[in-house]
Amino acid sequence: MKIAILASEGAPYVKSGGLGDVMEALPAALARIPGNEVTLILPYYNKIKYNPQYEVEQVAQFYVALGWRQQYAGIMKLKGRTDGVQVYFIDSQYYFGGREAAIYGHGDDSERYAFFSKACLDALVTLGAPDVIQCNDWQTALVPTFLKAHYRPLFPNTKCMFTIHNVEYQGWGHGNYFDDVLCLPWEYRSVMDMGGAVNLMKGAIETADLVTTVSESYARELMYPYYAHGLDGVLSEASWKLTGITNGIDTGVFNPETDKALPAHYNAESFIEGKAACKAALQQEVGLPVKPDVPLMVMVTRLAGHKGLDLLCYIARRMLWEEDCQLLILGTGESHFEDFFRNLADEFPDRVAAKITFNLGLASRIYAGGDIYLMPSKSEPCGLSQMNAMRYGTVPVVHATGGLRDTVPPADENGNGGLGFTFQSYNADDFYGALTRALHLYRDNRDGFRALQKRDMEQDFSWNIPAQRYMEQFRNMLTQ
Ligand code: GLC
Repeated sequence: MKIAILASEGAPYVKSGGLGDVMEALPAALARIPGNEVTLILPYYNKIKYNPQYEVEQVAQFYVALGWRQQYAGIMKLKGRTDGVQVYFIDSQYYFGGREAAIYGHGDDSERYAFFSKACLDALVTLGAPDVIQCNDWQTALVPTFLKAHYRPLFPNTKCMFTIHNVEYQGWGHGNYFDDVLCLPWEYRSVMDMGGAVNLMKGAIETADLVTTVSESYARELMYPYYAHGLDGVLSEASWKLTGITNGIDTGVFNPETDKALPAHYNAESFIEGKAACKAALQQEVGLPVKPDVPLMVMVTRLAGHKGLDLLCYIARRMLWEEDCQLLILGTGESHFEDFFRNLADEFPDRVAAKITFNLGLASRIYAGGDIYLMPSKSEPCGLSQMNAMRYGTVPVVHATGGLRDTVPPADENGNGGLGFTFQSYNADDFYGALTRALHLYRDNRDGFRALQKRDMEQDFSWNIPAQRYMEQFRNMLTQ
């Protein structure tokens, strides 16, 4: 099957969050399936263009029409990738040059990604029509709509899947954007319209052949106003074509046996000594007292509201008074959370460390050196770090929502039955309850805790199963 994957970010070239990780591993997993030809198209941001590691060759150039605009696009083919994925970058100095600081968050984002979506389709005209296009989040949400409105004759048999990684970011254009930038036929106005403005994600939900999201629970949650950020009605109507496919993680990259960032290596058989060495080194690295028997609770996260940090802030002091434990946080984000954790570390210097920074090596050492991983997210489409943590033998405590519900079945207080500790309603005292179950198992029944760690490490979180599920859905589209 010829599969074209379109996205605004993909590791290792460019990544701002989980989408970047998925775009590293999913194309590779699909390319491992015999008979597939996989193409990944990304914007040619400056940070890729000026990275000497990436050698490219220009294979085509053309002008992309966007309303009255005619903008140059170059198709740059990446050389040297050996896993069967062919990567192309769309070059546009005008839309993707400069802007060094962040890839999103610019005033003209909705125009930039309308350009990208159209340029991808023009590139596929040159490269040859794929059987399926898989596009991701609002940045490529215009692809199914443009495909239907403008490109059908060129792609008579191509089907298009739209995948929602987070419904919170929908992509908006002001009312005039429809005529000025999109220039779509009038019948698409109501498809795209939301309250007089243009909602790009809404358009994709309505025009894609299939819509997927990144876990089964989140697919169900999206029918409700609490989770859907205004799109519950649209998604309920589209429920016949909406499925959830839980992400995997790149088990080649996240592997405690080979991870170069770790001071000691281990697997599910040898983790007791290996993790103890990683824990001691980590406590030393972050300035906490090296205490092998004090449970170390860790969190690697964007410091954003929906990650459930308000619950942790609410219980933090009580927990530190009542329980003998250490807390380590790594991440950056909203300044009030950054300040809270910095102050907490000042107040409890022997118990709390806050690393307000972004550091992939330290993140790995935290997954390996921690005992308990906290992820009380208010909502979580899938979440990847709870799976990283389990792969490194760190027991998760999570809010049972979205992908957290699907990947962390609850264990009882003896550690039997599940993979971690969960709480059902988004409430700080319930979170505290789950957390103390984890702490007490660690303190009172270390063998039970270790059995749980071992079970976590033995799970298959690879992309093999999700890639097969994507294939099923691709085949469904092709026989529709
Ligand atoms: C988004 C979601 C996260 C998910 C990731 C990859 O970042 O918020 O839950 O794991 O996309 O699909």
